[in-house]
Amino acid sequence: MASDREPIAVIGTGYVGLVTAAGFAELGSEVWCVDVDADKIERLKRGEIPIYEPGLAESVARNAARLHFSTELEPALEHARLLFVAVGTPPTYSGDADLSAVHAVVESMPRSDHHALVMKSTVPVGTGASIKRIFAEHGKEGFAYVSCPEFLKEGSALQDFLEPDRVVVGDDGNWAGDAIVKLYEPLDAPVVRTDIASAEMVKLAANAFLATKISFINEIANVCEETGADVLEVARGMGLDQRIGRHFLKPGIGFGGSCFPKDVSALKQLAGNSGYHFQLLTAVIEVNELQKRRVIAKLQKHLGSLVGRHVALLGLAFKANTDDMREASSLVLAARLQADGATVCAYDPIAEEEARKRMSGVQFADSALGAVEGADAAILVTEWPEFAELDWAEVKQRMSGDLLVDGRNFADREAVEAAGFIYEGIGR
Ligand SMILES: NC(=O)c1ccc[n+]([C@@H]2O[C@H](COP(=O)([O-])OP(=O)(O)OC[C@H]3O[C@@H](n4cnc5c(N)ncnc54)[C@H](O)[C@@H]3O)[C@@H](O)[C@H]2O)c1
Repeated sequence: MASDREPIAVIGTGYVGLVTAAGFAELGSEVWCVDVDADKIERLKRGEIPIYEPGLAESVARNAARLHFSTELEPALEHARLLFVAVGTPPTYSGDADLSAVHAVVESMPRSDHHALVMKSTVPVGTGASIKRIFAEHGKEGFAYVSCPEFLKEGSALQDFLEPDRVVVGDDGNWAGDAIVKLYEPLDAPVVRTDIASAEMVKLAANAFLATKISFINEIANVCEETGADVLEVARGMGLDQRIGRHFLKPGIGFGGSCFPKDVSALKQLAGNSGYHFQLLTAVIEVNELQKRRVIAKLQKHLGSLVGRHVALLGLAFKANTDDMREASSLVLAARLQADGATVCAYDPIAEEEARKRMSGVQFADSALGAVEGADAAILVTEWPEFAELDWAEVKQRMSGDLLVDGRNFADREAVEAAGFIYEGIGR
């Protein structure tokens, strides 16, 4: 790949940072990665990838010579003028975005007239303006600022980086905006060049819209259950309408993950802080919380009280192909089940290590068949491909009960019922 590619720095080497680093290294840039987590940096230096993301380990290995990892900022500042910021912006108790990591990065920047902060982290609208103000107050007005929100999906993050639907670049017409557009040029994606506030809003609005679509189809599913319609047929019929589109019309047990819950809540809070009550998003969040809990009612419908019942959770990650457990619906399910007196045994092919950090009182099995041993009911929580291969007759044999709640409408209903199960899907 061309060696005339601009070197860059990436601050924060989590899901977004590491994928961004690997992606730009694939395109030929030298990438200087910085993280405050010394353990993570040591692992990355040894070639270990701290997260599970398909293709990422191979990409990092392939580009090892171009990827430099450090806990120190200086080498990054020395070698790169574009500093991508990909630190976490988790929710606070109030639902606002916690910007402390972003501000720590901003404060650590020196005076410079040839560097730019390029914000990949998802931040409230107005953050760019406030960072520029902070720079100005500290005599660092020469530091340029660009908003360049990230839209990758965990599970296909590297592919999303390399084949983006669009690249959004929000700036105030400085050199850095042009440099970012040039950096992304080889990807041949539509570029939305706009002002900083609009770029920040694109990210929040896109995630809020997708979350709204999920809550909408979940409510349709719930009405289907009451009326005898099959939501899968309904979603198919709706999705073929090009004005609607088929994506994100999959009913399930609520959205989770590190982005949708916090970004929806952050946009709602942002609106509220600005004096506007965003009613629709309040409903989206409430529907999502209730959706996670509806699974419990499905169990009770067949088992009555859950006291002393054994329940197996098949899958824990918030979706397949990731080990990310942030805001996973399984966390709520496991807690609710135990609060209602059930014991929980779980299996996830990848996310167990992360799950153990966030769940208490749950037993973990090494396989799906191990998890269902002696269970009164099993809940299919994550659509891991290996669950499509399950021999349901064998699953049934291992269980003491005969109830399968398919939280993703993922299993082959006919095969499950032929094996002697009572099948409870979502909206059908
Ligand atoms: N995960 C996603 O799917 C996704 C997609 C699009 C956008 N985003 C946004 O990108 C941002 C990062 O998300 P993530 O999932 O990669 O987070 P993450 O928690 O996986 O990674 C954040 C990293 O930043 C590091 N860090 C924290 N403070 C730092 C500092 N002062 N200096 C250097 N490093 C620091 C942490 O140690 C961690 O390694 C968030 O704002 C998120 O909303 C995430």
